[in-house]
Amino acid sequence: MEHKKTAVITGASSGLGAAMAAEFRRNGFHVVALCRKAPAQGLADEFIAADLTDPEELRAAAKEIETRFGAVDVLVNNAGIGSYATWEELSDAELRREVELDFLAPVALTKELLGCVAAARGAVINISSAAAYIPVACMGAYNAVKAALRMFSVTLQMEVAGRGVHVLNVCPGRVDTGFSSRALGGRKPPETPGRTSSSAEVFARKVFNAYRKRKRELVYPGWYWFAIVFARWFPGCCERINRRVWQLK
Ligand SMILES: NC(=O)c1ccc[n+]([C@@H]2O[C@H](COP(=O)([O-])OP(=O)(O)OC[C@H]3O[C@@H](n4cnc5c(N)ncnc54)[C@H](OP(=O)(O)O)[C@@H]3O)[C@@H](O)[C@H]2O)c1
Repeated sequence: MEHKKTAVITGASSGLGAAMAAEFRRNGFHVVALCRKAPAQGLADEFIAADLTDPEELRAAAKEIETRFGAVDVLVNNAGIGSYATWEELSDAELRREVELDFLAPVALTKELLGCVAAARGAVINISSAAAYIPVACMGAYNAVKAALRMFSVTLQMEVAGRGVHVLNVCPGRVDTGFSSRALGGRKPPETPGRTSSSAEVFARKVFNAYRKRKRELVYPGWYWFAIVFARWFPGCCERINRRVWQLK
């Protein structure tokens, strides 16, 4: 019997994680979903329940994966949460939750499973965000954690390349997944006119292709690169747009 490659995907119960689970399965992977709620029937081959903000639960899940599979071909650090609040409004608890889930958990899980990924000469895929590059008012904490996650990817790549491990950093722009409705903070995101949202299925295909081609970074959709360059070179303009959109005094 042909040996299937193993992909461990965090946050595979909904949104981008669910779409990536389906895509990796379509490409013959044995998918292990790591999240709190079980994914829909048939979306993943296995489900390990863990709250990744709980270090004990994270370690126990990693141990189970190591014992059961030994080698992990792909680890996708996808679980994450956003927040809509100014720095002044965001509570300490909300900030801590965001740092724990979006940054500390992927770092801890990667450290726990690095030996398994190296055993397969596999890949770590970190789902950061276009927000790692583009500052957005009332999303400062999210900007900060996703930028930290991107730097984690870039520096980890340097450290593990010699062991045959590849690191792909992914920066999605807005994709409608219900992510906004689950975000922390007291504000509602402003409605942005025009077609700014993209498809989770197309996103998942792009991620798989970028993984297959051993790319270092994927920004999806590609036109976000214009926004990234704009924000980098025209910070004053970027500030004025943000103040207007968020109706800041
Ligand atoms: N959608 C976008 O527009 C967008 C844009 C840029 C970046 N991203 C990033 O893409 C990733 C996925 O976002 P999404 O849009 O798919 O969001 P989503 O639909 O809200 O999915 C988030 C996933 O994270 C899991 N999760 C949340 N808290 C967890 C915890 N404490 N422990 C374990 N798992 C937890 C959830 O599963 P359980 O509830 O079952 O635990 C869920 O499967 C996130 O990192 C997000 O920052 C999204």
